[in-house]
Amino acid sequence: MKLFFTRDKWRGYRESLEETLGFVPTMGALHNGHLKLVHQAKKEMGKVVVSIFVNPKQFNKAEDLINYPKTLENDLRILKAVGVDAVFLPITSEVYPKNDTYESALPGTNALGLEGDFRPGHFEGVVNVVDRLFHWMKPDTAYFGQKDLQQCMVIKEFASVKYPNLNIVTVATERENTGLAMSSRNMRLSEKGREKASAIYEVLSRLKDFPQEIQWGINYLATKDIQTEYLEPLEIELHTEAGLMNRAWVFAGYLENIRLIDNIIYYR
Ligand code: PAF
Repeated sequence: MKLFFTRDKWRGYRESLEETLGFVPTMGALHNGHLKLVHQAKKEMGKVVVSIFVNPKQFNKAEDLINYPKTLENDLRILKAVGVDAVFLPITSEVYPKNDTYESALPGTNALGLEGDFRPGHFEGVVNVVDRLFHWMKPDTAYFGQKDLQQCMVIKEFASVKYPNLNIVTVATERENTGLAMSSRNMRLSEKGREKASAIYEVLSRLKDFPQEIQWGINYLATKDIQTEYLEPLEIELHTEAGLMNRAWVFAGYLENIRLIDNIIYYR
């Protein structure tokens, strides 16, 4: 597995590649959700590169950035074991140089509402870094997890304009046996917290069939010490492995001071 720390070194490798390139952008603290993206990329593409960069621009709270889990040694061990071809590990000044002239894309209308309301500046930060990464990595296909549903929509929206030849694939959320969506943030939950957090998917699954029960959902989550930020139905248009999905229920909230998001997507 090759490691690249600079764009220059990566460029040389990229130019030498004859195979198709799959790209999995991450912020590290890897779990099986990330590995699902990697496995799909490996199945579909000639070579696979993963980036690990904790993007400071997408954290709207300094403490969230500081507390974000960082497990680089373990991440690299896992990526090597699953047969990733290359890892891009830039430092912050490589991504955002001092005299920065890069004209980054801006998020479109899909960034309005939900995360856009509760995390001001978040999607500007995500699009800023993902645009740079697409520009430098030059992948044929990029893979994103559906757990960050709105992020998938925002990225597809800007990429369809700026990178029309780039294929964006979204991959179904990987869950624990309890239903809890896998997330790097789960590492910060206590064991009891992880048990309680399974109520989120329980509620989403119920609302899919009984949409009038939102208040029940919020109250039930509160009994598990989960404070809801939003719990809403959404109309979407998302092509997935399982076909076109047109509806979703989306959730964001706090448990043990940790912000968790999840969703359920379906066709009706
Ligand atoms: O989903 C994430 O981990 C991040 O938002 C991403 C896409 C790697 C950009 O920093």
